[in-house]
Amino acid sequence: MAAPLRRYGLGARWYDVLSGERWVYRAGREAGISLLHPRPGDVVLDLGCGTGLNFAALLTAVGPRGRVIGVDRSPDMLDMARRRVGAAGWSDRVDLVEADAAALDPAEIRDRTDGRGADALLSTYALSVFGEREAAWARAVAAVRPGGRAAVVDMQRPHGPWRVFTPLTLLACATGGADIDAHPWRMLERDADPRSLERAERKGGHLVAVAADLAIHPRP
Ligand SMILES: C[S@@+](CC[C@H](N)C(=O)[O-])C[C@H]1O[C@@H](n2cnc3c(N)ncnc32)[C@H](O)[C@@H]1O
Repeated sequence: MAAPLRRYGLGARWYDVLSGERWVYRAGREAGISLLHPRPGDVVLDLGCGTGLNFAALLTAVGPRGRVIGVDRSPDMLDMARRRVGAAGWSDRVDLVEADAAALDPAEIRDRTDGRGADALLSTYALSVFGEREAAWARAVAAVRPGGRAAVVDMQRPHGPWRVFTPLTLLACATGGADIDAHPWRMLERDADPRSLERAERKGGHLVAVAADLAIHPRP
């Protein structure tokens, strides 16, 4: 995983403009945050938060008493996130944690939430990049309070008429170090209360957002 670390190192400064956010990926992010149903006062764990593109929408949803804890392995991506947080005046509402998600200590997140655990977990376009997806997922789930909710937004090959864009989506995923066939929302579907599952697709099915109440709490 050295290559992705470099990718989100030197490339961090350009990520927001070059990642296709405006034309493609924002749509999936918005769908995922909407299905997560964050409530006022919630603490949301943003796993693989990158430059913090989820923060504005999350903070709007959780209101002045709510918070976001962003976890990312790349110091450069976190530096961009820190600049975003400072410029917007969110410093007392966003914690940034530098950690490899596969080695994240759930106790650290519980410590930052008065021992309770995060109320919600969000991961956008990140789990498909992680090397040790299952370990990262188990640790993040263990950092969420019992009954908490999670949303995973990630990519797959487009379908229907949008299949013509498959080469472009493969190129975008290869550039970002993402495995387009990882389908990480399946970990959430497996660990969810099935009655609470909600799913949305955007951009011809290229973007998938799945959200649900977590049903199990593995302790790594
Ligand atoms: C494609 S970016 C997505 C960033 C953000 N979630 C978004 O929606 O814009 C993937 C992020 O995952 C981070 N990342 C990759 N491997 C990681 C790991 N093992 N642990 C934590 N973060 C990791 C990268 O540093 C990068 O910021």
